[in-house]
Amino acid sequence: MKSSPTRSLFGDISKQQFLAEYWQKKPLLIRGALTGFSSPITADELAGLACEDEVESRIVIEKGGNHPWELRHGPFQESDFTSLPESHWSLLLQEANKQIPELAELLDVFDFIPSWWLDDIMISYSPDQGTVGPHYDRYDVFLLQVEGRKNWQISTLPVDENNVIDDIELRIMKTFHSEQEWTLEAGDMLYLPPGVAHHGVAQGESLTYSIGYRALSQSELLASYFDFILEQHDGKRHFSDPALTVQQHRSEITLETIKKVTQLLQEMPFDSESVGRWFGRFATEPNQPMARYLPEQPLTSQQCLQRFKTSPLTRHAHCRFNFTTLTSGAINLFIDGDEYQLNPEQVGFGHIICDNTHYCHDELAPYLNDPQLSSLLLRWVNDGTLYFTDE
Ligand code: SIN
Ligand code: CO
Repeated sequence: MKSSPTRSLFGDISKQQFLAEYWQKKPLLIRGALTGFSSPITADELAGLACEDEVESRIVIEKGGNHPWELRHGPFQESDFTSLPESHWSLLLQEANKQIPELAELLDVFDFIPSWWLDDIMISYSPDQGTVGPHYDRYDVFLLQVEGRKNWQISTLPVDENNVIDDIELRIMKTFHSEQEWTLEAGDMLYLPPGVAHHGVAQGESLTYSIGYRALSQSELLASYFDFILEQHDGKRHFSDPALTVQQHRSEITLETIKKVTQLLQEMPFDSESVGRWFGRFATEPNQPMARYLPEQPLTSQQCLQRFKTSPLTRHAHCRFNFTTLTSGAINLFIDGDEYQLNPEQVGFGHIICDNTHYCHDELAPYLNDPQLSSLLLRWVNDGTLYFTDE
């Protein structure tokens, strides 16, 4: 990638200003945001990836399919591509950043948004007039035009859940009134907050990357937190009411009873330490198991440290590393849903490990005499969380 990852995407607008004025608030068109960026994957390679089992891919055919707005799910076969119409379709590849390690560098450009919030990079390839139709998403997205041109229309009018075309698998808006319209050229980028309706149509062949963020719903958070608490907490206390008196109606569930049940439920911890321990695991849990580059034979600690002196380490593209800071100054490190506690002297190691995806010996050397930290490093090398870059 030719653009420096440290360069601001927004020209005169600082990262802080972007967050204050636009993030989760209003759309922003950025002309020439990443002009030097060239796709590490061609359209043909994208089609090849869409034929693999572990890759989530879809084709949306507006016209020329079996019916308008036909949705086909991958994995595809080569013949699926040769039978497509000339125009009016799009191929979408989800979680491309996990398949294409070079995209980690592109993600560094978005370092002003906490890494736990990132969902994935989706890549869409379209021939002329290819589109996924007018729709809205519940998440923030940066739409980076990487090759060719795409015409985008947007609308910030309140969205209506019922405004969808009936009897198709996709949620495409029945009526869409464009408020603003631009044609994006390679290097241009459009930021959209959740709920802004958008309609992109390829003008000739087009490659678009969607850098999408998570839209965590209250119901999924609650379900996951309750599961965590049930695992941690024995939850074995039983309802009791030794002060029970005779009721007028034996069938009534009295206010006293309801208060006692409420008390029992409120014993469930909801403090920030418990929520932090759960959220770190939740946010870093992998969606699905992925193949890793394992060393031919598990290394010993000495072999690992020796090797590290001559080869940098890289984090596997699908691994998630985050941490929370505790009031004691210690940190909880979360790696793919696992939790490790580091004491205040070890936090520098945790910060380097979490904030970067490539590690050189010199920056971690001050911590490697600590047996706990060197054995963590060894464990991550032996289970493929980290791999030697020259492998
Ligand atoms: C596209 O690349 O055309 C669709 C991306 C999106 O709407 O999020
Ligand atoms: Co969208």
